[in-house]
Amino acid sequence: MSGSLRSAVDVVSQRLGNVKPHVAIVLGSGLGGVADAVRDAVRIPYKDIPGFPEPGAPGHKGELVGGTLAGVPVLVQNGRFHLYEGHAPDVAALPTRLFARLGVTTLVVTNAAGGIRHTFRPPTLMLIADHINLMFRNPLVGPVVEGDERFPDMSDPYDPALRTLAHEVARAERIPLEEGVYAALLGPSFETPAEIRMLQRLGADAVGMSTVPEVIAARARGVRCLGFSSITNVAAGLTTNKLSHLEVLEAGKQVAGQLERLIQGVVTRLTRL
Ligand code: HPA
Repeated sequence: MSGSLRSAVDVVSQRLGNVKPHVAIVLGSGLGGVADAVRDAVRIPYKDIPGFPEPGAPGHKGELVGGTLAGVPVLVQNGRFHLYEGHAPDVAALPTRLFARLGVTTLVVTNAAGGIRHTFRPPTLMLIADHINLMFRNPLVGPVVEGDERFPDMSDPYDPALRTLAHEVARAERIPLEEGVYAALLGPSFETPAEIRMLQRLGADAVGMSTVPEVIAARARGVRCLGFSSITNVAAGLTTNKLSHLEVLEAGKQVAGQLERLIQGVVTRLTRL
């Protein structure tokens, strides 16, 4: 295990005390509200965690929040490390490896994404069925990190049983939930219309700049994943609108409450799986 991972595990487990999280939740742009729903919260700023840089993307905080959500011990990552900020893929995946080391077996990832499927109008929530890694980066490159698998199977990156559960919760809560394929690009520029047409042909329903490094690292450690994209805008060239990060943050706020209910519902029912 790398030195910073080991030190991060020491610091975070000490700060969490008797909170032993089984579920970790990664919050995307403008989706920070879930962190406020955590009870008996222990807040650990990134500056206190070895190897964690300060987050740079607007709309992203920089803290881990441990506590309970609907009575279940969780650890929330409020602020992620994007490759477009210049972080190496193993930095983007450091929180995921830390979660696995702390005993987390389920990772819930959320992100903001542009809608490619023509029926997707913001705000829409999309369950991630699968992804296409067009970042051309992978956090497993290099010497095998202790605890990682060298060649992890990626047939079920987003756990089928968890996806079924998410749909059940959505039905029960009357929250519209689409399902589709997420394509991850490096960013930080938004896509061109020609790139969006390419992604359409490749089978992508949504496009974003995150999530994939974390999910790959999770699968390399046997952690099962569930992913939600908040479709915050129609992808470039599919409307005459220009894209802006502000629009992304505003649209994210509109579905944050629904996403929070979905995640709480899934977390409550997890013990059944
Ligand atoms: N493209 C890439 N990333 C995004 C988008 C988009 O249109 N919207 C939110 N994140």
